[in-house]
Amino acid sequence: MTRTLIHGGLVITASDEVHADVLIEDGRIAALAAPGVLTADRTIDATGKYVIPGGVDAHTHMELPFGGTFASDTFETGTRAAAWGGTTTIIDFAVQSVGQALREGLDAWHAKAEGNCAIDYGFHMIVSDVNEDTLKEMDLLVEEGVTSFKQFMAYPGVFYSDDGQILRAMQRSADNGGLIMMHAENGIAIDVLVEQALARGETDPRYHGEVRKALLEAEATHRAIRLAQVAGAPLYVVHVSAMEAVAELARARDEGLPVFGETCPQYLFLSTDNLAEPDFEGAKYVCSTPLRPREHQAKLWQGLRTNDLQVVSTDHCPFCFTGQKELGRGDFSKIPNGLPGVENRMDLLHQAVVDGHISRRRWIEIACATPARMFGLYPKKGTIAPGADADVVIYDPHTEQVLSAETHHMNVDYSAYEGRRVTGRVETVLSRGVPVVTEREYTGHAGHGVFTPRSTCQYLN
Ligand code: URP
Ligand code: ZN
Ligand code: ZN
Ligand code: ZN
Repeated sequence: MTRTLIHGGLVITASDEVHADVLIEDGRIAALAAPGVLTADRTIDATGKYVIPGGVDAHTHMELPFGGTFASDTFETGTRAAAWGGTTTIIDFAVQSVGQALREGLDAWHAKAEGNCAIDYGFHMIVSDVNEDTLKEMDLLVEEGVTSFKQFMAYPGVFYSDDGQILRAMQRSADNGGLIMMHAENGIAIDVLVEQALARGETDPRYHGEVRKALLEAEATHRAIRLAQVAGAPLYVVHVSAMEAVAELARARDEGLPVFGETCPQYLFLSTDNLAEPDFEGAKYVCSTPLRPREHQAKLWQGLRTNDLQVVSTDHCPFCFTGQKELGRGDFSKIPNGLPGVENRMDLLHQAVVDGHISRRRWIEIACATPARMFGLYPKKGTIAPGADADVVIYDPHTEQVLSAETHHMNVDYSAYEGRRVTGRVETVLSRGVPVVTEREYTGHAGHGVFTPRSTCQYLN
């Protein structure tokens, strides 16, 4: 058994910042001690660096089928890019197609991921077809460690569930301990606005943002909250982008309801200005919920500080500009929805620390600890404490880097953050004690990462 010591760094968790050495034995954190007290077979020097838990990205879509094409990162390329960016666990969304059993969809996702991942992974299940069989299968999945289920109030005819289907799934989750994750946008109304916009000749990417109105995100968020309240179930709203939706979450939380919200870096750093970029460049920024006018950003940061939003995930769902985003030239509704970002999240959120939006501990809380708690992985993942998996990042908080498709590792031909300067950089990444990135060299391999069953939501405040 090798003993590794990470020496001389500032250990940051959601609750503490302490100058300590971290001892790793057998893939787990064995001890934290005052600097210089412990010895080991191998020492990693972290002097002047942060020692943080590996990131937990609770929202990715590797190889997602969407709009006639597939998200361009495989589990192999996407998890390697995640590791480069300091993320050591992803939770990806297995998809049930209409007419399929949950089991079929889940098996297909296991087959895509198994043996291919550089870091550990879990699955949520997208429920597109709520019926008696599906409801029973939800119980089985919870027992297998797939403890969360995404439903869509958007995308009629594809992933969409109506209010009755949503209520039934929520009632089931109230019984079996599962957590419903909601894509909250009124897709029925949005489809009418899409049709009307196209009929007026409004085909550019920026109209994607105009028809998917903030009010229709807020309305759906409100409806999801009340349905969950009626069902007696907790609720997690994914990819919140509208300040009006944050207000709905805040109001419900003030009422004492167990509702939670996730936002993503694209909503914190990008805006409708990007969607309006000329020459169809705006297509690079088409995702749903859509980017919003800049004034929403301040309210999202505020929500993260006041804990009305608890998690920042990426919703990583990359499509190349050439050949994929281009499917929607002349019709914005045919642009595959989604942005790349699994590699950028930890750095962008560190930049938010530098910019004064959040504290260092809040950075770790929203990117590591809370997603792990929310989805039943804590304290195995999301913290640095004796007994936890040794998923550890040595983070250099001083070195500047420029984000670019030239240097990123995601399998996509553009960066949503092209040219953006950020302060801070991942230096070394351990996954269960195994170095996957070593002083900015990739030392991992496909198949190191394993499926990680999850317990039910541990976060009810
Ligand atoms: O645009 C997005 N978000 N694409 C991924 C699918 C989803 O709704 O999360
Ligand atoms: Zn969604
Ligand atoms: Zn998503
Ligand atoms: Zn290995």
